[in-house]
Amino acid sequence: MKVRILPDYDALSETAAAIVAERLREKPSAVLLLPTGTTPLGMYRRLVGLHRSGDLSFARATFFNLDEYFGLPPEHPASYHVYMRENFYALIDADPARVHVPRGDAPDPKAACRRYEAAIRGAGGIDLCVLGIGRNGHIGFNEPGAPFGSRTRVVRLAESTRRVNAADFEADRAPEQAITVGLATICEAREVLLLASGANKAGAVAAAVEGEVAESVPASVLRRHPKGTFLLDEDAGSDLGSGVAD
Ligand code: GLP
Repeated sequence: MKVRILPDYDALSETAAAIVAERLREKPSAVLLLPTGTTPLGMYRRLVGLHRSGDLSFARATFFNLDEYFGLPPEHPASYHVYMRENFYALIDADPARVHVPRGDAPDPKAACRRYEAAIRGAGGIDLCVLGIGRNGHIGFNEPGAPFGSRTRVVRLAESTRRVNAADFEADRAPEQAITVGLATICEAREVLLLASGANKAGAVAAAVEGEVAESVPASVLRRHPKGTFLLDEDAGSDLGSGVAD
């Protein structure tokens, strides 16, 4: 696992977009597993810019998303379906047949989770997984305590996560559950890039990078990944001891 520290959010977003673009140029049919949240917005904006200037095509790529709120239909304004459409998929030349976001309103969630895993396998596995990190160390919606061997499934959200995400919902009440790709599936990606920006992520980043590899800190599992990178801005890296950065 590598740690790279960039000066600020813009540099972080630029570097993340450059890595994704490079992987797609090497392999136009790459399979990507992608995050939501505020952190990746700068990366998505730059990737859309590369597409608009004619420098990058996504037409042959396959996309999977990490997670979705349980119970939300794809048209719900706080859904990750809407987030991904508005910030990325509708702005690039993605083939809708190769865009996959977990359905929060699937009538048989267990079967839908199994199908999601099968679709990832069927696509040949994930080439590049891009992640954010929650303030409690979650990745996707794998909250503290999530088994390292977990697969796509329905999970209960931590109260702290529901509070952080509450503003996206009416009456400030985030759903109690979500569907998330599991930690084992994330770790099977051939490359993993975790993005973290801001001082409110510094504690989670330090626990993941320098603490014990333990299920209480889901992002710590990436330390076992042969091609895992923590891409941080200086604020997110501010709790790290010296000597970990490139
Ligand atoms: C959300 C998402 C995660 C995301 C994280 C951080 O709840 N489920 O996939 O990485 O929290 O979000 P942000 O980038 O807005 O801090």
